[in-house]
Amino acid sequence: MVDTKDLINLETSLSNPFGNFGDDFSAQNVVSIDKKLLIDLHQLSLGPVLSEGPYSVVYEGLYKSVPVAIKIIQPDMSANVSPERKQKFQREVTLLAKVKHDNIVKFIGACMEPSLILVTELMRGGTLQKYLWNTRPHCPDLKFSLSFALGISRAMEYLHANGIIHRDLKPSNLLLTEDKAIIKLADFGLAREEAEAEMTTEAGTYRWMAPEMFSIEPIKIGVKKHYNHKVDVYSFSMILWELLTNSTPFKGRSNIVVAYATATKMRPSTETIPSDIEPLLSSCWAEDPAERPEFEQISDFLENILRNVCASSTSSPNIFELEHSTSKELTNSPAMNCLMDQHVENSKKKNRTSCCCFRSACDNSL
Ligand SMILES: Nc1ncnc2c1ncn2[C@@H]1O[C@H](COP(=O)(O)OP(=O)(O)OP(=O)(O)O)[C@@H](O)[C@H]1O
Ligand SMILES: [Mg+2]
Repeated sequence: MVDTKDLINLETSLSNPFGNFGDDFSAQNVVSIDKKLLIDLHQLSLGPVLSEGPYSVVYEGLYKSVPVAIKIIQPDMSANVSPERKQKFQREVTLLAKVKHDNIVKFIGACMEPSLILVTELMRGGTLQKYLWNTRPHCPDLKFSLSFALGISRAMEYLHANGIIHRDLKPSNLLLTEDKAIIKLADFGLAREEAEAEMTTEAGTYRWMAPEMFSIEPIKIGVKKHYNHKVDVYSFSMILWELLTNSTPFKGRSNIVVAYATATKMRPSTETIPSDIEPLLSSCWAEDPAERPEFEQISDFLENILRNVCASSTSSPNIFELEHSTSKELTNSPAMNCLMDQHVENSKKKNRTSCCCFRSACDNSL
């Protein structure tokens, strides 16, 4: 909880630690944001720093006495906020203000002067990344992992249905409520409307990035990489793998090595992944984006598994007996059909295990 005596009034403080935006800074020039989204700086007070990065510093604070997170865009090397950063900010504000979903961090408002500031609901549980690190060497409880995965999938289902690609899905961009019950997607700085998506390599972080987003060969000038919303499905597969193993994908390897590995079709080991879930992972990180399922299908799949995990913890040790009759009919994609068939096959073949087996499987991850 922020102690009000520790809070700094933003208007006065901005001239000093965060306010050096150089002579060329003119928000009107580059950033144009709907006036309805702007909030009064006088009502905003800064508390302690939550996170500090090259692009932004995020503070805990208060807006109209309500706890919030305050993201202040930083000047770049030349002591100015570059046009790219201004654009990124504008895109984030515009998109975040449009979306409303239980698994997406709530937009509260933005300021453009004297700095570029984004205010969102405060997520006291920190990032999924921190949560996983704090849980190591153990894995989170299977039910926990699967419900986090389902929350992420529902947020992504909503975004894709609205034509938005996130492009930077990773554990440090996923935030938890204080009781760790709900996971929410944040950081829309790289998100795009799909129609504009003739993308170059500006987006993402290699470890979680779909191989079609980058090239290990030099790209000719003027040639652009084409990709679509399925890049988010690939990133989701890396997060699901992390949730089930509590390890980092391609741990110990540099970004460049990871890029090379994924571009040459290497994937994290599935040796310790429960056989019921392995087909989902494999389809989500398929080389061909068209073979990756849609998030709607992923959500249905996870709901089914979760239902069985919950049932098994109270009754039988049989954790997975896939019910084909879900609330929503599964879309008839070859990828998902194949995935479901594999599932049913696995369920029949395997002697069903309990959650404990899932847990022990987690201990020997990559
Ligand atoms: N609403 C929030 N509640 C709590 N913490 C937050 C919130 N928003 C951001 N943070 C913290 O600030 C960090 C950086 O936020 P965000 O990812 O939005 O900024 P960024 O500058 O784009 O970061 P990066 O470039 O590192 O991805 C998050 O990883 C998280 O630790
Ligand atoms: Mg981020």
